[in-house]
Amino acid sequence: MPDAIPADAVSLADYERLASKRLIAKNLAYLNGGAADMRTLTANTESWNKQSLWPRVLRDFEKANTQTTLLGRKLNSPVLIAPTAYHKLFHPEGELATATAASALRVPYIVSTQASVKLEDIAEKAGGMPLWFQLYIQHDKDFTKNLVRRAEKAGYEAIVLTVDAPVHGIRNDEQRSGFSLPANVEPVNLRGLTPLPKTQSAFDSTLLASLPTWKDVEWLKSITSLPVLIKGILHPADATMAIEYGADGIMVSNHGGRTLDQLPSTRETLPHIVKAVAGKVPVLVDGGIRRGTDVLQAIALGADAVLLGRPVIHGLTTAGAAGVAHVLKLVQHELEVAMLLTGCRNLSEASSTLTI
Ligand code: GLV
Repeated sequence: MPDAIPADAVSLADYERLASKRLIAKNLAYLNGGAADMRTLTANTESWNKQSLWPRVLRDFEKANTQTTLLGRKLNSPVLIAPTAYHKLFHPEGELATATAASALRVPYIVSTQASVKLEDIAEKAGGMPLWFQLYIQHDKDFTKNLVRRAEKAGYEAIVLTVDAPVHGIRNDEQRSGFSLPANVEPVNLRGLTPLPKTQSAFDSTLLASLPTWKDVEWLKSITSLPVLIKGILHPADATMAIEYGADGIMVSNHGGRTLDQLPSTRETLPHIVKAVAGKVPVLVDGGIRRGTDVLQAIALGADAVLLGRPVIHGLTTAGAAGVAHVLKLVQHELEVAMLLTGCRNLSEASSTLTI
């Protein structure tokens, strides 16, 4: 039966296994692959495993909850859907299925610039659930501005500016697989953008001249009244700069280990960023989060929320909207169980799990 939830899908790792069986090798290499030798990719998942969580017992849990507030929106859970590209590679309904799941579970969904469905059509499916738009500043500023306008008009509530991937990382697995987009999948929201001439050199002068800088953050802030979150911050000094340039939130991310290998894991980075930000704006984190205990740990370390990237696509591949919804449900259930078993009645008590 298409899009049925398999009986043995009881964890996010199961969804990864099931998705891996369904995908053709090229798409699998694109999805699960990372940069170079994939050390950062591996470190992302492994680094969450090293921390013990100290439990407290016999607490009164009557009013326990996982609520949080982000950008003025009350949310039932600190888990969001990370921006990922080309959902039609993984399911015929593409981003529409992801939006259906987000809407059903009331989970905010960050739609990628490289979505394979029009951002307006995704918004229609989202049923009033918060959508944020992930932006790559394009070399054509007018085009970029129009993209922001379209997102505003369609009701997106924030712009997530990705700053860590001005060039494609060296993804050897993807290269070896011969990955390219099939004819029926394209970044439809970028239609009409004249591409830069293809170059073999990362230091091509036309490319270099087109790369965004902090000035473009200023520019983006000047053309939109939506909150702007900056995604792909790893160095605390950049977190401080981002706030100086008006960022309304910071996303600690190494692009799922897909850009430069040997970057620190996000688990390692998070406490440094939290310290630099000092509560001025929300801090979100992604990278290797696969369990409710990982979510709890991220919150304990000072994150306001976490993002799930690949697991959402594993759910989408396996069972469409139902699969995405189930992935979100599993991680939420795991978070609640982890809180019950560590004695955290709400997210602000999470930090108690880190020390005795
Ligand atoms: C796109 O951002 C990708 O990482 O493939």
